Amino acid sequence: MADAIVTRDLRRNYGDREAVRGVSLGIGEGEIFGLLGPNGAGKTTTLSMVSTRIHPTSGDAWVFGRHTVTEVHAARRLLNVAPQEESLYPTLTARENLTFFARLYGVPRAQRVKQVQRALDAVELAGRADDRVATFSGGMRRRLNLGCALVSNPRVVLLDEPTVGVDPQSRAHVFDAVRGLRSEGITILYTTHYLAEAEELCDRIAIMDEGRIIALGTLAELLRGSSAEEMIELRLGSEARPSCDLAALPGVARCEINGHMVRVFARHAEPVLARLMQSCALGADIVQLRVTPVSLETIFIELTGKELRD
Ligand SMILES: Nc1ncnc2c1ncn2[C@@H]1O[C@H](COP(=O)(O)OP(=O)(O)OP(=O)(O)O)[C@@H](O)[C@H]1O
Ligand SMILES: [Mg+2]
Repeated sequence: MADAIVTRDLRRNYGDREAVRGVSLGIGEGEIFGLLGPNGAGKTTTLSMVSTRIHPTSGDAWVFGRHTVTEVHAARRLLNVAPQEESLYPTLTARENLTFFARLYGVPRAQRVKQVQRALDAVELAGRADDRVATFSGGMRRRLNLGCALVSNPRVVLLDEPTVGVDPQSRAHVFDAVRGLRSEGITILYTTHYLAEAEELCDRIAIMDEGRIIALGTLAELLRGSSAEEMIELRLGSEARPSCDLAALPGVARCEINGHMVRVFARHAEPVLARLMQSCALGADIVQLRVTPVSLETIFIELTGKELRD
């Protein structure tokens, strides 16, 4: 599999804030690669360096071997971006918007009509092609925003949170479009803070937090990498005692305490549950108890101590 995107120790500072702190990735041609992380993790900054839109403070990125700084024009011809912020003209129709972007990207006149139609079909908006964007739902606008990135016929498409604020039906359309692109051999870099999207859509996932990649692999690989198979979640009636030393209990792989919430990771929850109940360490009423198998959600908590809820 050819490397569509390679980054090596990519870094970007804003003043003294280190937004991206050494990201090294290899993304294969035709892969849907998910960059998953909370607000401010550095997803957009990473994507913008790959897209040539911003320069790295240090480190390198290549798109099919073309360096994003020293071969910027060659790299740019191979890729396109659907940005987090929509850039559409509400008074124009969908087709007019796509035609505008096709012209902007230098698509030769002879190919423009065909490319615009292809983009409309890919995002399933052909039926509304001649309606003004002002009449579109939020989900339809997100799809058109994605379509605008397709008119230049890129080999790599960078999608920045393409489903934020869209209804489930439009989300399904976006997923269909992304899978359709993969079936044509197009490489997708997909940023999201929705765990379920990364699980469902992405061939491989990099979990990003505070500017770094903290885990990378297929979903199955990430699950195997966890120190546990089950997570016990206890919501307490009051703050957990600071003295609470549950990690020392036999069978506990790891423990995260966050205010009223205690999360205990274990290979097998059952024997640990009994010990937890006997332990006086919790020192408060348990108001809610949940045992779940490890998932991307539990792995994220295990790695970062934070929640990333849909
Ligand atoms: N133009 C900028 N100037 C100053 N700081 C910036 C700029 N762009 C991003 N940052 C900072 O860099 C860090 C990473 O931001 P970035 O937008 O890459 O995160 P993100 O993962 O895309 O977050 P979100 O999920 O909110 O889109 C944040 O702390 C952000 O405040
Ligand atoms: Mg972002």
